Amino acid sequence: MYSRRFDWDAQPHPLSQATDNQMVRGKTIVNLVDANPTRCGFAYPEDAILSAIARPDAMTYDPAPRGLPAARDAVCAYYREQGAVVSAERILLTAGTSEAYGLLFKLLADPGDEILIPRPGYPLLSHLAGFEGLICHAYPLRYSEASGWRVDLEVVSALVTTRTRAVVVVSPNNPTGNYIKSEELAALDTLCRKHGLALIVDEVFADFPRRPSHPAVKSVVNRTSALTFVLNGVSKMLGLPQLKLGWIVAGGDPRETVTAMERLELLMDFYLTVGTPVQTGTAQLLAGRQDIQHQINARLTDNEAWLDARLTGTANICRLAREGGWYAVLSIDDAIGDDARALTLIEKAGTLIHPGLFYDFYREGFVVLSLLLPPERFAHGVSSLIRRFGRPAA
Ligand SMILES: Cc1ncc(COP(=O)(O)O)c(C=O)c1O
Repeated sequence: MYSRRFDWDAQPHPLSQATDNQMVRGKTIVNLVDANPTRCGFAYPEDAILSAIARPDAMTYDPAPRGLPAARDAVCAYYREQGAVVSAERILLTAGTSEAYGLLFKLLADPGDEILIPRPGYPLLSHLAGFEGLICHAYPLRYSEASGWRVDLEVVSALVTTRTRAVVVVSPNNPTGNYIKSEELAALDTLCRKHGLALIVDEVFADFPRRPSHPAVKSVVNRTSALTFVLNGVSKMLGLPQLKLGWIVAGGDPRETVTAMERLELLMDFYLTVGTPVQTGTAQLLAGRQDIQHQINARLTDNEAWLDARLTGTANICRLAREGGWYAVLSIDDAIGDDARALTLIEKAGTLIHPGLFYDFYREGFVVLSLLLPPERFAHGVSSLIRRFGRPAA
């Protein structure tokens, strides 16, 4: 009766079952992977946000498949502040970045076509592609202490087949935190042009830099000549996922950009998913972003510094270099499997971590943590992890 889109293992992972069991028993869980900013104790400029989405002009419904002009102008202003000139004709608003992926996959690929995605990477990507009937091939990001995470460009190009339609880059990547470097971008741009592929670059974490190593690209907008779609939205930028506002900036090849925008507009005309109140408020919301971004960046830095200090006394756990984003990746040297470690920690200490395997790390021995948590909760959870799995430094 149902489509093959659901032909994947939808059974809850033992880790979520174990977490639910703990909650049913009334145990308090420390969720060390909580990346929901609205639950992390930030002082949102509530009056300003609520007044932005309660403007009188939100009472008029004026359907605009690309998004209301004033909201698209506000997105242009955001890029102008970053030094990139973008015309509103190249911007299409969406109800979040996940929806933007779905639209782009519909635009670019037929069922059975292929896209290339980063590994390790954002777990939702392969599902979003799968729902459009696409096949994902993962290209590796390789880590070294000297250079951090780098795209294995040789493998990317070896993965291209006649059915490949797009290369996806997440910059900074979730969860590894690396920005795309200018030489990587140039190589991917050349590859995409050579094979007629589109480049999709997800920059939802771009406003949260830590130590971008040279020559990291802060935004890919206006930096490519292959057909390129840059994704962003307020979910991370303003820490407000519930507003459901994202956008696509189309660019690169100017002729293809016009065609792509026309087709995206047509697609969006069937859905018209973006709410009016968030669009009439976009200019005010984006103009006020510094306040929350400052708080989030301070939190990420403070938690990371605390984590590093705590890890100096530990022989077998270290944090991998982070250029940006909201996550810390720990490498743990022990004989315990990643799933077993996470299960033990939730069952014995009520602390939830994500095994690296959730993000398709290429081997066992990695843990992913959110750096967004309130400091006490973060310290409590990390201390549980280190107590159970850390070996004291000699
Ligand atoms: C890399 C990345 N892209 C996109 C999204 C989804 O963003 P949105 O809430 O705008 O759909 C997330 C959410 O965590 C993400 O981590």
